[in-house]
Amino acid sequence: MPFDTALTRALGIEIPVVQGGMQWVGYAELASAVSNAGGLGILTALTQPTPEDLRKEIRKTKTLTTKPFGVNITLLPTMNAPPYHEYAQVVIDEGIKVVETAGNSPGPVINLLKQHNIIILHKCTTIRHAQSAVKLGVDFLSIDGFECAGHVGEHDITNFILLSKARQTLGVPFIASGGFADGQGLAAALALGAEGVNMGTRFMCTAIVDAQETDTELVLRRWKNTSRLFKNKVTDEAVRIEKTSTTGKFEEVGPLVSGKRGREVFINGDKDFGVWTAGQVIGLIHDIPTCEVLVRRIEKEAVESLERSQKLFRGKVGQPKL
Ligand SMILES: Cc1cc2nc3c(=O)[nH]c(=O)nc-3n(C[C@H](O)[C@H](O)[C@H](O)COP(=O)(O)O)c2cc1C
Repeated sequence: MPFDTALTRALGIEIPVVQGGMQWVGYAELASAVSNAGGLGILTALTQPTPEDLRKEIRKTKTLTTKPFGVNITLLPTMNAPPYHEYAQVVIDEGIKVVETAGNSPGPVINLLKQHNIIILHKCTTIRHAQSAVKLGVDFLSIDGFECAGHVGEHDITNFILLSKARQTLGVPFIASGGFADGQGLAAALALGAEGVNMGTRFMCTAIVDAQETDTELVLRRWKNTSRLFKNKVTDEAVRIEKTSTTGKFEEVGPLVSGKRGREVFINGDKDFGVWTAGQVIGLIHDIPTCEVLVRRIEKEAVESLERSQKLFRGKVGQPKL
C-alpha cells in the first residue's frame, strides 16, 4: 500500500482516487467496481427517482462490495427541489460513512449529515465557496477546476491556480478534481498539496476514446449555470440560440439541454442524441479498461512519477545569501 494521505486514512481506502457523483452513471455497478479496485466509488443519489430507490441501490452496492463507498447529494438550482433531507436520511439509516455534497446552499444537508458523524467531501469551483464550506465543518474539499465536466462555475479558474490557492488558504484537507485521468496527474495533485484526486469523465468511458480535449463546449453561461458538455450537434444548437436569442428566455434552449434526452445517450450510445457531461480530460482517454485495471494503473504510474521526481534533485536545499 504505497499511499498514506489524509484521504486514504480517513476513508479507509488504499488508493487516493475518488469517483465523483455522476448523474445517470453513478449506479451500484460502477461505485462497487471502483471501491473494489481500492478507490472510493460513489452512488449518485438523484439518479434514483426516490429516496426509497436510493435505499435499494445502496443495499445492492453492499452486495457487490465490502469496501467503503459513498453517496453524492447534488443540490440543484431548481424550482421543484427534490426531497434532499429524505435522501440524506436514507444515507444515514443505511450507515453510509462518506457523502460527496455539491451545489447550492448545502448547509442544511451538511448539518444533518454531520450530526451523524458522516465524512463530508464538499465539491466546489471557487475558493470563496470552499471557505463557506469550511465554516460548515466539512472534512474535505474537492476542488473542481475549470477543466472539469459539468458545472464549472462562472470564474473559469483552472486547477493550477485553484489547488495552490486551496493549499495556501483553506486549512482543511482537499482533493483535486477536474482534468485527472492517470497516475502522473495524481502525482502532480499530491505535489500541489492535495490528498488525492476525484475523477468523473475517466470513469465514464465508452464513447469517448476518440475524442480530443477540444471536444467539450460551455453551455448556459448566459443563465449563470455554465456547464461543460460533450460538444455535439445539440450543444452547438443550444449555444447558437444562447448567443443569438433576443428574448434570452431559458425556455428556448430548455428542451435541447434536458437531462431526459441526455440520459438516453448512455443507453442508446448515440453521442448526438442529447447533451451529456464530459470534461476536457476526454483528450487524455484512449482505452476502456475495467475499474480494477484503471485504478491499479493509476497507482503504479503515480508511484513511478513520484520516484522519478525524487531522482531530479540531489544534496542539500540552498539557503538564500543574506
Ligand atoms: C456524466 C457526468 C455526470 C456528472 N454528474 C454530476 C452530478 O450529478 N453531481 C456532481 O456533483 N457532479 C457531477 N459530475 C462531475 C463529477 O463528479 C466530477 O466532479 C467531474 O467529472 C470531475 O472532472 P473530470 O470529468 O475532468 O474528471 C458529473 C460528471 C460527469 C462526467
